Formats: sequence, structure tokens, C-alpha cells
Amino acid sequence: MRAPKPLAAGNWKMNGLKASSSEIADLAARLKAAPAGCDVLICPPFTLVASLADAAAGTSVAIGAQDCHAKASGAHTGDVSAPMLADSGASFVIVGHSERRADHGETDADVAAKAAAVQAAGLPVIICVGETEAERVAGREVEIVSGQLAGSIPADIDTDRLVIAYEPVWAIGTGRTPSAADVEAIHGAIREKLVARFGAAAGSMIRILYGGSVKPDNAKELMSVANVNGALVGGASLKAADFDAIIGAW
Ligand code: G3P
Repeated sequence: MRAPKPLAAGNWKMNGLKASSSEIADLAARLKAAPAGCDVLICPPFTLVASLADAAAGTSVAIGAQDCHAKASGAHTGDVSAPMLADSGASFVIVGHSERRADHGETDADVAAKAAAVQAAGLPVIICVGETEAERVAGREVEIVSGQLAGSIPADIDTDRLVIAYEPVWAIGTGRTPSAADVEAIHGAIREKLVARFGAAAGSMIRILYGGSVKPDNAKELMSVANVNGALVGGASLKAADFDAIIGAW
């Protein structure tokens, strides 16, 4: 069976100013000197999407966004739509990050609507799922993640443009990660759900990223786990040198 090409995605969250374009130039130069064995994506805040997409044009670094509104346009002050992001040069959009689910009360249905909007704008979507620490302690991680997958992936999804990111909430920004065995178990469970819903051919080609305290020193171990097809990296994606070291896991 073919395997999906890995994806190393950086999520800058609410970090980054105009000067941060030097990190993109640095990363692009490093990847030119030593080409990556994976696709490479950086998702800066909205304010930088257009300028970084320009800065990264013609390099092996793609630029994406961290969220979007579910509607294409209209009276939604402060929001940004998927067609606007496509127009700005974004080539991916993340939806359903646990920080959006927690800070903005986004439900699975909200995430599904946003995912559909991303694909309607012609872009691939990264849908995030993951359990809290209490849910993990209660042994409910598979149940929680399965429910999020069922509710957050819209009915008419194009699986060729779908990426799932598994990010246990308790591992985000904490320096803690699940064991390799735990990552293998939950990624295996996610794969089973995808294959059950979309069939073996499509379901086995959907990339499943791991996110949560991925660092240069643990990337190789985490990225070699079965059904881990890449990483969604927060803090360690802000500096080109760190992110490049993670990319070196492939
Ligand atoms: O989306 C990436 C993220 O939530 C993980 O953050 O800082 O733990 O790598 P971090």
C-alpha cells in the first residue's frame, strides 16, 4: 500500500511580526541546501499570510493560515474568509485547533462548516482533534477523538485535500508528549476510523499529523511511529533552525 508524503507544518499561533519574514528566508535557504524529505508548511497569523506567501514564492516552503470563517463574505467584523486566504496566497488552512475550540467555543459542527469553506475555496484543510488531560486520564481518548472526527469532517469532504492533526491538549506547549506506544495506538485508531468512513484506498492516504511539544530532540522518534505522517509544530516552528532540525526527522 502506498504511504502519504509526510508534512511538516508550523503553526506560529499569535506570534510573528513583519521581521519574521527573515525566518522564512532562512528556512527556504536551508531547504535549498538540504532538500526536505517532506512537504513544508508555515502557518503565520493572518497579518503575515500575504507577505510571507510572497516571500516564500518559488521556494519549497508553503504558507497557510490558522483559521477562517465558515462564510465566504459578509457582515462579520474582524473575521477572515477562506477565499480571502486563498487570494492572499495561502495554500492550506488549519481549522478546529484546540485553542480555537477552547477560546472561541468552536464546536465540531463549526469546525466542519469551516473545513467545507476551506475546500470550497479550493484549498486543502488540516482538521485538528485531540483529548484533554482529564479525558486521557479517564481512558476516553479514542472515544473523544472518534467523536471529533465524526463531527468535524464534513459529509462532502475531498479526502485528497484533507489532513488530520492529532494534538492531545495536555501535550501542547507543555514539553510533555505521549509515549511512542500511545501515539501509535491513537494514530492507529484514527486510521481505522478514516478507512471505515472513506474506504481503504482513500482512508490510508490521508495524512495524520502528530502535534504537541514536537521538538528537534524528539521528532525522529515521534515521526517514526506507524501512521504518523507528519507534525504540526507550535513553539519549535518559530525559528528556522529549530524547524529545520525537526524537518531533518525525514
Ligand atoms: O498546532 C501546534 C500546537 O498546538 C503544538 O504546539 O508549541 O506544543 O509545539 P507546541
